[in-house]
Amino acid sequence: MLKVGLLGAGRIGKVHAKAISSHPESRLVAVSDVDMGAAEALAAQYGAEPRSNEAILSDPSIDAVLVATSTNTHSDFIEAATRTGKAVLCEKPVDLSLARAKACQKAAAATRRPVMIGFNRRFDVNFAALKAASDRGEIGKSELLSITSFDPAPPPISYVKVSGGLFRDMMIHDFDMACWIMGATPQKVTAIGSSIVNPEIGAAGDVDTAVVTLHFAAGRIAVIKNSRRAVYGYDQRVELLGSEGLLSAGNVIENTVVKATTAGVVSAKPEFFFLERYMRAYAAEWAAFVEAVTKGTALPVTLDDGVNALAIAEAATRSAKTGATVDMATVMG
Ligand SMILES: NC(=O)c1ccc[n+]([C@@H]2O[C@H](COP(=O)([O-])OP(=O)(O)OC[C@H]3O[C@@H](n4cnc5c(N)ncnc54)[C@H](O)[C@@H]3O)[C@@H](O)[C@H]2O)c1
Repeated sequence: MLKVGLLGAGRIGKVHAKAISSHPESRLVAVSDVDMGAAEALAAQYGAEPRSNEAILSDPSIDAVLVATSTNTHSDFIEAATRTGKAVLCEKPVDLSLARAKACQKAAAATRRPVMIGFNRRFDVNFAALKAASDRGEIGKSELLSITSFDPAPPPISYVKVSGGLFRDMMIHDFDMACWIMGATPQKVTAIGSSIVNPEIGAAGDVDTAVVTLHFAAGRIAVIKNSRRAVYGYDQRVELLGSEGLLSAGNVIENTVVKATTAGVVSAKPEFFFLERYMRAYAAEWAAFVEAVTKGTALPVTLDDGVNALAIAEAATRSAKTGATVDMATVMG
């Protein structure tokens, strides 16, 4: 039985508490949050103890820590937890700063403890099936990947200001997806972004609408489109064109009823947002972590993957600001 401490009892912390408690081989032992009331409420729901971060990190009986706190704390908690011998599943992104994330990568590697980053979309059954079909060579050589990822509505400005920007906060999922599906990391990155959904987002120095092109070796290309607003719901689609065909994964809709009348044919909307669309993926992500940690096998997503996606986000942020294509070698150093 894997004994787990959860740091952070916010939106995503609640999702992880449920996944940890529902898994037959893991037990939620303790929950922390700077908001002690939030930690107490979540801990009580699952028969765990509310504790301080320090009390969780220094408890030798806790085997693993799930980091679901605000982004600016992730690297510090990954380092502290691995230093005390714990396995870690940390939410994305690894940090707001690439330099800080690289230092964390080095420190965590020295401890040889397993660290997984929460790129939950890899565990979505649809995207996983697309990736598996591509890996089996069912569409020949993959050449052009297209990812659409639109949120239903923008987050509050207070969130935007501390998020690190759309490329680090939101498109980071798509950067990881692109590298995972293409089985490679890009050589160059070209980005364009604007703030047309909410001018306040632009005033805060961020964008809400963006397109990024990833240039892979041998001329392979990925195009990622993000928007903070899709009035019909969470739009999550992937299309992969190969030398012998096309694979596409569409939206998961709220129900399967289709109404056909003289006015047209209408189906339900996509599931509203990430808590609806990816609930099963979060559980599968946790199950994959438990399996790797308990069996001592390779993690399906690593800290290196997290740093790699952050480096692409850094390049995209730079490209969107300057209008120039950014060579990944200048970012990776
Ligand atoms: N993978 C996903 O789909 C996904 C979805 C949402 C959020 N996230 C990531 O998860 C993280 C949390 O996001 P959220 O939406 O749950 O935010 P949130 O604000 O709802 O929750 C964060 C919680 O962390 C607590 N916290 C902050 N600093 C802390 C500290 N030093 N010690 C203890 N607790 C602390 C806050 O009080 C808050 O309760 C972010 O990094 C975000 O990028 C990932």
